[in-house]
Amino acid sequence: MRRAPLALGAAVLASGLALAGCGGPSAGKPDVKVTDAFIPAPASGDMAAGFFIVHNSGAADTLTSVSSTVAGDVTMHSTKNGVMREQESFAVPADGDLDFERGGNHLMFENLKQKPKEGDRVTVRLHFAGSGTVEVAFPVKAATYNPSTSSSSSFSSSHASHSSQ
Ligand code: CU
Repeated sequence: MRRAPLALGAAVLASGLALAGCGGPSAGKPDVKVTDAFIPAPASGDMAAGFFIVHNSGAADTLTSVSSTVAGDVTMHSTKNGVMREQESFAVPADGDLDFERGGNHLMFENLKQKPKEGDRVTVRLHFAGSGTVEVAFPVKAATYNPSTSSSSSFSSSHASHSSQ
């Protein structure tokens, strides 16, 4: 006697789940955009640094590696308490930003094939676990260029010690 109503209830529940499963078009996916990218013109042709901001308006992602046509190696570094460390990857928070800014995280371009000069554009490919490869043209700016203008020479001085390793 009670079987019929139960079965009906299960059917209604199942269709409700199916509808919810359709979700929004971007549900569960990262949506990354790269802005504020630049490379300060390096003093020598040995290495250069790179900065940018990843804006994510979707699910969390991970920046797993970076490559460029002008450099044999591109590595990702964090700076904490003035100490630079190479990192294997960087987390991109859901609905948040990952900053590579002066005084903090930065890219290192090594084994340069040519020395980037102010006014050049350098092709950089950012590889994300979820979003795939994002290609960005990094403009080469003056050596002292800093979009946030607060910190300045601390980066290059700390980086000089880094290069001697
Ligand atoms: Cu570094």
